[in-house]
Amino acid sequence: MAYSEAKVLAGGLAHIPIIIGFIGLIQIFLRKRETASPSLEKISTQGITAGNASKAGSDATSRSTSNTKASAPSRPTKKAQHANIPVNTYKPKSPFVGKVTENYSLLKEGAIGKVQHITFDLSGGDPQLKYVEGQSIGIIPSGTDAKGKPHKIRLYSIASTKYGDNFEGNTVSLCVRQLQYEKDGQTINGVCSSYLCDIKPGEEIKITGPVGKEMLLPDDEDANIIMLATGTGIAPMRAYLRKMFEPTEREKNNWNFKGKAWLFMGAPKTANLLYDSDFEHYKTKYPDNFEYTKAISREQTNTKGGRMYIQDRVLEFAEEIFALIENPKTHIYLCGLKGMEPGIDEAMASAAESKGLEWSELRPKLKKAGRWHVETY
Ligand code: FAD
Ligand code: A2P
Repeated sequence: MAYSEAKVLAGGLAHIPIIIGFIGLIQIFLRKRETASPSLEKISTQGITAGNASKAGSDATSRSTSNTKASAPSRPTKKAQHANIPVNTYKPKSPFVGKVTENYSLLKEGAIGKVQHITFDLSGGDPQLKYVEGQSIGIIPSGTDAKGKPHKIRLYSIASTKYGDNFEGNTVSLCVRQLQYEKDGQTINGVCSSYLCDIKPGEEIKITGPVGKEMLLPDDEDANIIMLATGTGIAPMRAYLRKMFEPTEREKNNWNFKGKAWLFMGAPKTANLLYDSDFEHYKTKYPDNFEYTKAISREQTNTKGGRMYIQDRVLEFAEEIFALIENPKTHIYLCGLKGMEPGIDEAMASAAESKGLEWSELRPKLKKAGRWHVETY
């Protein structure tokens, strides 16, 4: 090899470490960008794999979040995952007849309307009416309608855990607002909600169900649970929070929640906040695991000077909420007024946009991954 050729070759070889170093720098830069703001594709892929795993029972729970799509086909289908959830044990034609054990107001002085916590004894059923957190039951009000026919059933979200408020597993509790509206100068009272709000301990009640698989909790102890509730939409959330933070529940379920639960609660007045002292207590006891944010519409104002709604709070905490959503073990639950859905959607879209994400694409993916749960009425 001539001297000049050797010199050129040596010069070329000397550049290799520089080129390798440069490629390395590009790789580090790209990785950092991904960590700071994972792409929509990454969020959705993680959600679909780990989100499904979270619902698949303890077997799936033991799998790590680093599961890849390749292992997904071996997971049970959604139907199989929910196979053990009781549904329609009692149907409208032959309802279970339970007894009222408690009926008390959840409101403080100065509150608007009437909201009651009502408990029914389910013991003695054959079969026993069993349910899980996040399900609903049907109630058939006594009496007949204007045509002389028996009243139709109305659904109510269950506000107790499967162990019930007494931890004995033989009761179910509801949180019911009496429907009242004005028509032609007259106050109209809702049939079933008035019946329930006025029912007395000892009276019999016709119960159907349980129904619903939309609002079930994941099994993962380290799941993150974001809850958006207005009014009586708090019912399923109260059950989740009892399961997470009541000592007897933790012991009975052998389930020690260690993720983050974040409740956004909408109420017209402070006196209308439901189960507020229980939630404040959980916040004191589990400050690292529970966040409680209130939107008190008729006492607080949003940045535009209007009524403070939970969607305004969602916008306020958009950064933190989206950081949580990036975690495949994060689930979001919406319950309460149907009217809040567009507002929540708008807030999520605006929050997503600020992270460079498209909510209209992300939401269906979260839904498909079993991480977006809605029950509004
Ligand atoms: P009804 O006598 O049946 O009157 C309702 C009818 O009144 C409406 O269909 C409408 O035609 C009319 N009406 C209502 N408002 C107005 C108005 N402003 N102006 C004019 N007409 C009006 N409720 C709770 O309190 N707590 C719960 O946890 C709960 N969970 C639910 C869960 C699910 C899955 C669903 C579907 C509903 C839930 N509900 C809950 C609502 C509940 O099922 C009843 O719809 C509610 O209690 C009203 O029933 P009602 O018999 O008192 O009213
Ligand atoms: P407001 O009634 O002041 O407009 P409750 O069932 O106890 O009345 O509570 C429902 C809460 O949800 C109230 O604070 C109510 O506010 C609020 N709310 C009403 N409409 C919406 C909406 N479209 N989006 C979000 N929150 C709403």
